[in-house]
Amino acid sequence: MEFSMTAKFHISCVYFLVLLSVATSKLNPCDFPAIFNFGASNSDTGGFSAALRSLKSPFGETYFHRPAGRFSDGRIILDFIAESYGLPYVSAYLDSLGTNFSHGANLATGGSTILPPGQNPLSPFYLHLQYSQFMNFILKTQYVRQRGGIFATLMPQQEYFSKALYTFDIGQNDLTTAIFGNMTIEQVKASVPDIVKSFSKNVKNIYNLGARSFWIHNTGPLGCFSSFLTKFPSAEKDEYGCAKAYNEAAQYFNQKLKESLAQFRIEFLDAAITYVDIYSAKLSLFQDPKKYGFERPHVACCGYGGEYNFNNNGGYCGTTINVNGTNILVGSCKNPSDRILWDGIHYTEAANKVVFDKISSGAFSDPPVPLNMTCHRSFTKN
Ligand SMILES: *[C@@H]1O[C@H](CO)[C@@H](O)[C@H](O)[C@H]1NC(C)=O
Ligand SMILES: *[C@@H]1O[C@H](CO)[C@@H](O)[C@H](O)[C@H]1NC(C)=O
Ligand SMILES: *[C@@H]1O[C@H](CO)[C@@H](O)[C@H](O)[C@H]1NC(C)=O
Ligand SMILES: *[C@@H]1O[C@H](CO)[C@@H](O)[C@H](O)[C@H]1NC(C)=O
Repeated sequence: MEFSMTAKFHISCVYFLVLLSVATSKLNPCDFPAIFNFGASNSDTGGFSAALRSLKSPFGETYFHRPAGRFSDGRIILDFIAESYGLPYVSAYLDSLGTNFSHGANLATGGSTILPPGQNPLSPFYLHLQYSQFMNFILKTQYVRQRGGIFATLMPQQEYFSKALYTFDIGQNDLTTAIFGNMTIEQVKASVPDIVKSFSKNVKNIYNLGARSFWIHNTGPLGCFSSFLTKFPSAEKDEYGCAKAYNEAAQYFNQKLKESLAQFRIEFLDAAITYVDIYSAKLSLFQDPKKYGFERPHVACCGYGGEYNFNNNGGYCGTTINVNGTNILVGSCKNPSDRILWDGIHYTEAANKVVFDKISSGAFSDPPVPLNMTCHRSFTKN
């Protein structure tokens, strides 16, 4: 959108006044009645398992004591977010069994991309499809509520849609698919503006459905994963053992995402948009694993084979593989809580908790808003 100079000047004045008034008044912590999440495996609470292929034991072993649709041994960051607001864990929209949407819904599925996926995608539910499903969800849940009784107790109230927290964690698969599909890093970077444009379009669509509070994770340090280090053994590494080029691609995406959200904030003065640099929060674990009680930072806890206990061609966590005529269940390491990476791509509950504690303080947010103040456009202590 193009603004004239006067319009731009006017908007920055309004923006300034909003910031000023927010900074000088005493703010109450937010009281979100619901959480709606869009994303991929990092925030999936059962969509992939319900709709595509269910994750098998030992997924979920640490906390849920059974596979619970999370790509982890236990809770993921979205679970900690829900807990911090005293809300129930967010049910997956695609799960038809035992779900309760009274305080939110999760549209994320493992493997989801921002852009429409190519052939044989991990998940067909890319971001625009998640948005369409959500649009349908808003309409249909209200019809169901009107039926009353037990049906009503399973559905969110109409007013929750404007009052809820909207969380996002997506983009990792757009980059991974491109990199594993043999694109050069330059080609990957060249595709980033389109990916970010599509992301931002979806956020605007969701804003137009009434969303006002956004908590948006950027994408993590891909180059530190067992999967990338196994796939590209000769990649140049940084001093922490992470493959440089892939982390740079992630940072490039993050930079563009941050710029795009800054623009969004100027255009939509009644939206509170928090960009969360989860990349840096996660990277700090790989930079100083001992500080957080972690060992073997790049080695998958649950996996099979090679230097990183990971195999890109089979032997994924929870599967059964045949090794020299013997069936082996690809299982967990002894103490998942000592590890950062669960399956070589996703994090253990222990790592998720450390990352959650870091990001919820606001230290990784732009603007520097802690999680419990995410409904406000800006936040200054006292
Ligand atoms: C759904 O969850 C809400 C909030 O936790 C609860 O009050 C309601 O009874 C639940 N509905 C059912 C059918 O369990
Ligand atoms: C990428 O390159 C490798 C080695 O040249 C090849 O085996 C593989 O099929 C290629 N992958 C794709 C998706 O093109
Ligand atoms: C499988 O058998 C081959 C040939 O006997 C042997 O070289 C290899 O080490 C065996 N692999 C494992 C994992 O035991
Ligand atoms: C909000 O979060 C901050 C940072 O995590 C914390 O210091 C503060 O006590 C929280 N405030 C309330 C009212 O929970």
